[in-house]
Amino acid sequence: MSAMISPAALTAAGVRREFPILDRIGDDGRPLIYLDTGATAQKPQAVIDKITECYEQFNANVHRGVHPLHERVTAELEASRKKVAAFLNTRPLDELDLLDDVSEIIFTAGTTMGINLVAHAWGRQFLQPGDEILLNHLEHHANIVPWQMIAAERGAKVVWCPLTPDGLIDLTKFDQLLTPRTKMVAVTAMSNVLGTIPPVAEIVRRAHAVGAKVLVDAAQFAPHGPIDVQAWDADFVVFSGHKLYGPTGVGVLYGKLELLEAMGPFLGGGNMIDEVFDDYSTYKRPPFKFEAGTLPIAEAIALGTAIDRVQAWGWDVIHHQEQLLLEACHARLENIPGVKIYGPGVDQKGSIVSFTVEGIPAHDLGTSLGRHGIAVRASHHCAKPLHRCYGIDATTRASFAVYNTLEEVEALGEALEATRQVFFRRRG
Ligand SMILES: Cc1ncc(COP(=O)(O)O)c(C=O)c1O
Repeated sequence: MSAMISPAALTAAGVRREFPILDRIGDDGRPLIYLDTGATAQKPQAVIDKITECYEQFNANVHRGVHPLHERVTAELEASRKKVAAFLNTRPLDELDLLDDVSEIIFTAGTTMGINLVAHAWGRQFLQPGDEILLNHLEHHANIVPWQMIAAERGAKVVWCPLTPDGLIDLTKFDQLLTPRTKMVAVTAMSNVLGTIPPVAEIVRRAHAVGAKVLVDAAQFAPHGPIDVQAWDADFVVFSGHKLYGPTGVGVLYGKLELLEAMGPFLGGGNMIDEVFDDYSTYKRPPFKFEAGTLPIAEAIALGTAIDRVQAWGWDVIHHQEQLLLEACHARLENIPGVKIYGPGVDQKGSIVSFTVEGIPAHDLGTSLGRHGIAVRASHHCAKPLHRCYGIDATTRASFAVYNTLEEVEALGEALEATRQVFFRRRG
């Protein structure tokens, strides 16, 4: 196995050393094998330290005062916002002759909150009875349920694009379903079950041709590859901090400024108003119009640190290591009798492998792997419509990050084989 470790993998080994939890030995004496990054990524020391620094050195509320602590914390938060903007390659707003405090980057509580914000604030303004929202069966419930809710409220309709048998969005059907009635296409940049990476820029181009807007759910994609909102030309992009090696409780919504300006607010409250009178209020410009109340300040600042780390590691190292793990995992699992891997081949997906083992319920399998010290997820992964397409209730999912190793893939294979033996011996 060690003969397969390339120079890039050795650099990945250096990345791994930044994650203290990966040295953890469980109560059973086993080291942690964490193959559940799809649920949430582990945190590098720099992110943990930044949160501590926020509370120890400059804890105060933002945008609400004039003493030095306020100035420091506000500067840290706005610096993090600029890092997010650079990370997504947003347009430089100074070129558009806009004020310094206008931004297309909104801090949210996470992907779910970001999609709800757009569904409700954009949908209330722009959806009419008979309009259509085009989804597809790859989507996470977070990119389904808010659209169903606003569709019901506005008399609009959710339309479903099917998948091909190997788990790609069927682009021929997609074209047929795209009509002038389509007002929104909501699409994932990477499936949290199959790992499928749809051709986002192409989907946006086709949607724009009929006048539809596009929201891209980048929750899974963000830690695995560069996002360029200008190249995608997406109208909205959302992701969560905690899947990008950052803290929980914070996420990002990118929106094209002209759309954010045209939309009404989602939540009302402090910090988002310009003026409040007895009978009406006026609102600030984006981003603050969409940031009512106190933000998750330390988390948003530490998200900037997570982005610093990802950029320091570099996409080449991340991609190389994850591809190595993905290929090794496919090769290892495909040789185990009864294992079925769902979704496309390794060249059309990110580092997620969801599978079933014939005769072993996913939950039992996940529990058994847990007893071998291997953390995977076994469930419908908040993607019930997708599982229904395959006629199953649940899968077991191994999801990899740059910090995982080929030895951990091998441990998964061995634990699967051991589980099969015990399970079938028990059943006689
Ligand atoms: C593709 C996708 N979208 C949305 C979400 C929801 O993210 P959050 O729970 O951070 O809001 C997830 C979480 O697993 C996801 O994988």
